[in-house]
Amino acid sequence: MALTIGIVGTGTMGRGIAQIFAASGNSVILHDARTGAASEAKEFVDGMFSRAAEKGRMTSAEAEAAAGRISTARNLADFSGCDLVIEAIVENLKVKQDLFSALEEIVRADAILATNTSSLSVTEIAASCSNPERVAGYHFFNPVPLMKVVEVIPGARTAPEVAERLGALAREAGHMAVTATDSPGFLVNHAGRGFVTEALQLLREQVAAPAEIDRILREAAGFRMGPFELLDLTGLDVSGPVMQQVYSQFYHEPRFRPSPLIDQRLAAGLLGRKTGEGFYSYSGGTKVEPE
Ligand code: NAI
Repeated sequence: MALTIGIVGTGTMGRGIAQIFAASGNSVILHDARTGAASEAKEFVDGMFSRAAEKGRMTSAEAEAAAGRISTARNLADFSGCDLVIEAIVENLKVKQDLFSALEEIVRADAILATNTSSLSVTEIAASCSNPERVAGYHFFNPVPLMKVVEVIPGARTAPEVAERLGALAREAGHMAVTATDSPGFLVNHAGRGFVTEALQLLREQVAAPAEIDRILREAAGFRMGPFELLDLTGLDVSGPVMQQVYSQFYHEPRFRPSPLIDQRLAAGLLGRKTGEGFYSYSGGTKVEPE
């Protein structure tokens, strides 16, 4: 059954989430704290549907209908009719808690509130709510339309049917839902620490350069992307805080310790693709292959 889904935060993730759920027949309402951001996101997603129609991945009528299901809202109060609200705002516990408290005053009693947090505790986000049973983690990956997996994370007090409904909705949109417990980094960002943290250690020990490490992990170990390519795609402004969060939530267990290389590169603005320079250089969004 088609739902009305509110999305708060229309940056990288909010746009992708909007795209898959509008494409699968749901009505999507976009809201962002920055004036104009929701309209920019709608334009972006509309453009993605037009491109899909040009490439024959959907008909023009389907593209038009999908774009027509996305609207923007200047005020959160416009979310009163939503069945589900997904937040994809800044990765900050207090800001997310404040948003969820505000949403609880607006949405229906049976509406679900989901967070796309990468690394914060779902239970802690839900703790600010008077009805934490309806709150769950819904962790998509970037780029959402291509990364066909989503972690569904029940918090300590989440009602089982809330997680089940989120899983079913993802499947209707063509995604695979994997349930993970609410532990630091959930499943993917916990496992990913081994991949990324150890690669940074190899770099610090000068075992090999980023391109060599990426190449061997892609070609010999079968990863689709190397750890440095992944860091550049995600952006250090996103990955850095995730590393800090996972380390701190595991009570500073040494194997999760972030590399000093990250802080240095953050300070230098070498965030990755989004700044044109990370572990690789980018020209017009395309990676410049090192010599
Ligand atoms: P982004 O910076 O691209 O977008 C965030 C948007 O939220 C911005 O447009 C900003 O104006 C808006 N915003 C910030 N505070 C707000 C508030 N209080 N109310 C309404 N809008 C607000 O960030 P991105 O990368 O989309 O990440 C969003 C969330 O998704 C974060 O929690 C992040 O950890 C998580 N995430 C990010 C992934 C990635 O690869 N970028 C992957 C999976 C999860």
